[in-house]
Amino acid sequence: MDQIHFFILALLPLSVFIPTTSAQLRQNYYSNICPNVESIVRAAVTQKFQQTFVTAPATLRLFFHDCFVRGCDASVLLASPSGNAERDHPDDISLAGDGFDTVIKAKAAVDRDPSCQNKVSCADILAMATRDVVALVGGPFYEVELGRRDGRISTKASVQRRLPQPSFHLDQLNTMFASHGLTQTDMIALSGAHTIGFSHCSKFMRRIYKFRGKSIDPTVNPSYAKQLRQMCPLNVDPRIAINMDPTTPQTFDNAYFRNLQQGMGLFTSDQTLFTDARSQGTVNLFAANNTAFQQAFITAITKLGRVDVKTGNQGEIRHDCSVVN
Ligand code: HEM
Ligand SMILES: *[C@@H]1O[C@H](CO)[C@@H](O)[C@H](O)[C@H]1NC(C)=O
Repeated sequence: MDQIHFFILALLPLSVFIPTTSAQLRQNYYSNICPNVESIVRAAVTQKFQQTFVTAPATLRLFFHDCFVRGCDASVLLASPSGNAERDHPDDISLAGDGFDTVIKAKAAVDRDPSCQNKVSCADILAMATRDVVALVGGPFYEVELGRRDGRISTKASVQRRLPQPSFHLDQLNTMFASHGLTQTDMIALSGAHTIGFSHCSKFMRRIYKFRGKSIDPTVNPSYAKQLRQMCPLNVDPRIAINMDPTTPQTFDNAYFRNLQQGMGLFTSDQTLFTDARSQGTVNLFAANNTAFQQAFITAITKLGRVDVKTGNQGEIRHDCSVVN
């Protein structure tokens, strides 16, 4: 009895130093370590954005794909000489290079400050850059939580079945988002990210052409389908990418949800949010009230940024975002 008691007491102080996955991120995490980190990142991201608009959608999508595979640990940024990293998986191969470049440039800017060198994780830089691009394209500004550490593992295999497909219907979307603690409302708000950016034709061809006797998707607005067929003919160049939000493609607004009301969602996974009675009310709310959408987006992207994060002494602070230390 006494011996057991002694052991518990002896172990107790130790447990304080054992990191747990429930460790919290927080705002201003770097205030004593690298007080200017947020302005350094913002300046680098703004400069990159001024060079090319793609910076914004590319960075936002990169953050999402990072968080859904092994958590928000910058594992998506790791490169593999043998082509076996996350970014080599078919679901990640279309991630635009400008997203990776944004993080690399922001990291270089941070590391040019001697007090910050090798002290800010690539995962946190991606989270800050994502917050900044959303604001740059007219979306809401929010305080970003920090304190993530970088992962040391990135494999092609770990991407398999971890990212939503454009063919998904509501239940499949909900199941996948729920597995990361995200609600249906979070999922709908995050899908609003498709208010900016581009898609290759192959991702929605099955909806707008008859294939093997399957008819055209009746939930696509017929005149939108016609426009899409003009931009994406059957023998289209696979490099062609079109705007996902046909109305305000360069603005982060709730036009995405008004498009869904018109049958102008590009993917099945977009249009199902309006077609399915269980999610239509939220789409109508976000379509009518941009403030409600923005608030829900901030809540959801903050929750997304907490998914399976490494903190404390887990992982590392990578020196070069594309290779482990
Ligand atoms: C709900 C399930 C989702 C599905 C099925 C999905 C699927 C896709 C697909 C197929 C593309 C086009 C890729 C290409 O052809 O290059 C795309 C682009 C994009 N997605 Fe999603 N996505 C989803 C959710 C999200 C979320 C949660 C975010 C971010 C919060 C996001 C942000 C983006 C952005 C910004 C682009 C444009 C990328 C660019 O222009 O480079 N998506 N998505
Ligand atoms: C829009 O949503 C916001 C935030 O939920 C709410 O405070 C506001 O009252 C709503 N506006 C209208 C016109 O319903």
